Amino acid sequence: MRMSRRAVVALVGVAALLTASACGSDDDGGEGGSTKVEVFTWWADGGEKAGLDGLVTQFGTDCAGQTFENGAVAGGAGANAKTVLASRLQQNTPPDTFQAHAGAELLDYIDAGQIEDISADYDSWGLKQAFPAGLIGNLTVDGKIYSVPANIHRANVVWTNKKVLADAGITEAPKDLAAFLADLDKVKAKGIATPLALGKDWTQLMLFESVLITDLGPEKFTGLWNGTTDWNDPLVGKAINDFKQLLTYANTDRDALDWTDAEKLVMDGKAGYQLMGDWEAADLDAKGFKDYGWFTFPGNGTTFQWLADSFVLPKGAPNVEGTKCWLKTVGSAAGQKAFNTRKGSIPARTDATPADYPQYQQAAMADWKSATQVPSCAHGSACSQGWQNAANSAFGAFSTNQDVAALQKALVAAAGQFVKK
Ligand code: GAL
Repeated sequence: MRMSRRAVVALVGVAALLTASACGSDDDGGEGGSTKVEVFTWWADGGEKAGLDGLVTQFGTDCAGQTFENGAVAGGAGANAKTVLASRLQQNTPPDTFQAHAGAELLDYIDAGQIEDISADYDSWGLKQAFPAGLIGNLTVDGKIYSVPANIHRANVVWTNKKVLADAGITEAPKDLAAFLADLDKVKAKGIATPLALGKDWTQLMLFESVLITDLGPEKFTGLWNGTTDWNDPLVGKAINDFKQLLTYANTDRDALDWTDAEKLVMDGKAGYQLMGDWEAADLDAKGFKDYGWFTFPGNGTTFQWLADSFVLPKGAPNVEGTKCWLKTVGSAAGQKAFNTRKGSIPARTDATPADYPQYQQAAMADWKSATQVPSCAHGSACSQGWQNAANSAFGAFSTNQDVAALQKALVAAAGQFVKK
């Protein structure tokens, strides 16, 4: 027997009421329905959890009578969370809200009819004026807006262990890829066999995207995702070869490591470098590791590869009122400060005060204003989830077989299947 979604929700509501009265609990049910807001993320630990905790504290202040429920599923970049979420959405048992990347990834949920239009709330909360016009453009589909961005992260950053580099006589950031390779050799010569810390599939895709930006330049790079640059371009082949060379400096157990495991290699002095988004700044801070440096991936110039975490109102969310209060907090000046000061990202709002932020974010805020912006596939601003999955598995295969032609062929095929011109 198939039940309508309304019938299922009604039944779940009755069950919740019965459970609440049976247990004498008062955080469920009542006249207005549930007062719990289940927030589904993959921010379970370290700097990611610290950022979420900041937001939760602000939510407690702004949304009296509502209770935060942590629905986090651990795993960098949502590797596990997205699978769990997909099955909950499929079964019409959504959380009250979930994180989704602005751009192509958000479009997946919109196209599937899984999230609500919240344009009217944007108007009443004054959000259209609060965010930069370009970001509003990225969030708008057929004149409607479906999510509230919490931040802007930068993906194309290399994090370093300053002591490891100093021991190898390295005092400056490398200007280009050749200089980076030379520095990797210097660290290797000091007995650190794999100076470039790397994790599994999506972290490899990130490193490759940075190499692509260097080899193709920002404009052609962006064209890879909108169909104006051909993935058969010889420069893509060059980028794969450059990436392959970088792999010779990376730990061979990479395919079993999440980004935090690779980060630990840097913290422990077993590696000197890791390419990772700037959530790493917050994570290193949360873990008390102070001796780190950073630079934009060599050859990327002033390109800022951006991504934005945003929160949505799923269709059939149990507690719409509480979720809207969460979304309002996410978009507010106080909410963005509470979150971003601890998350390594910069606020999506334009009215933040840089002096309120740690040193890294102050630099990122300044860069964001003058940078050339390009999107990220590994983090959904450039490509859909289907494309991400195809790319991740191509990199998983390449990590073992190192077959340049096969990787380019797989990337060409993925683009052919998923590009939306
Ligand atoms: C990204 C997300 C970031 C950070 C990162 C590592 O996809 O946008 O906020 O959580 O994954 O898990």
